[in-house]
Amino acid sequence: MIEGVKHIVAVASGKGGVGKSTVTVNLALAMAAEGYRVGILDADIYGPSQAQMLGVAEGTRPQAAGENRFKPLEAHGLQAMSMAFMVDTREPMVWRGPMVAGAFQQLLTQTAWDDLDVLFIDMPPGTGDIQLTLAQKVPVNGAVIVTTPQDIALLDARKGIEMFRKVNVPVLGVVENMSLHICSNCGHGEPIFGEGGGERIAEEYETRVLGRLPLTMAIREQVDSGRPTVVAEPDGDVTATFRSMARQIAEQVQGQQTEGPSISFSD
Ligand SMILES: Nc1ncnc2c1ncn2[C@@H]1O[C@H](COP(=O)(O)OP(=O)(O)O)[C@@H](O)[C@H]1O
Ligand SMILES: [Mg+2]
Ligand SMILES: [Zn+2]
Repeated sequence: MIEGVKHIVAVASGKGGVGKSTVTVNLALAMAAEGYRVGILDADIYGPSQAQMLGVAEGTRPQAAGENRFKPLEAHGLQAMSMAFMVDTREPMVWRGPMVAGAFQQLLTQTAWDDLDVLFIDMPPGTGDIQLTLAQKVPVNGAVIVTTPQDIALLDARKGIEMFRKVNVPVLGVVENMSLHICSNCGHGEPIFGEGGGERIAEEYETRVLGRLPLTMAIREQVDSGRPTVVAEPDGDVTATFRSMARQIAEQVQGQQTEGPSISFSD
């Protein structure tokens, strides 16, 4: 158990650029809109992007909380902590597995999380040793896999699901991102990256598609400007999809608690 955190949900993807961080921040905001106390831990050392997505000014540093802990930053009602708050991300740095695990552990345990119902972790992309170590070291209640409907991304998503299974972390579902391109001129939709991929994977691994998100100009502009869609368009369709996914996640992790832990972690 991490002090101040009830449930931990890892958001992962087999490869980068599929929208893992975009989904993480919007899911977290949607969960907060559903009435939960929510935090984000940006563990993507290769490209920490939560600071920008949450509109936190560059160079903002967390304040100390007592002797050896830090207060999370607050943004749009979320508590947030990121590798980017602690190290200069412009400095090129070669991360080796043990360094990452150490830095990550520190971020997780030395942050003074304030009574969170759910902490979302924006995981580093990929399914290598680093990701496996993180999945093992942290008491994760469940994982959400983000993929595009493209074959190559789905192949990586499979590896992601298998990795979490290996360490007995339940996969809560698959988010199919960039499912349909919606033209900002006329609103017509086109399945640029193909169709039905998330569904096939969900069936194969006996998990579910939590939701499908379109590829739109608005989603990108909003998240890149620090006001993600769930904040910018609280009554829009995309927000409704994120809130539905948030409710499914909440149900699943809370269900786990009443049934007692199905998984045990050792240090
Ligand atoms: N559904 C979407 N529609 C439009 N742009 C998107 C969508 N999802 C992600 N993006 C954009 O794609 C880029 C990569 O997304 P990001 O969330 O940073 O991916 P990852 O964390 O997987 O590397 C970002 O510029 C983001 O704004
Ligand atoms: Mg990212
Ligand atoms: Zn058009």
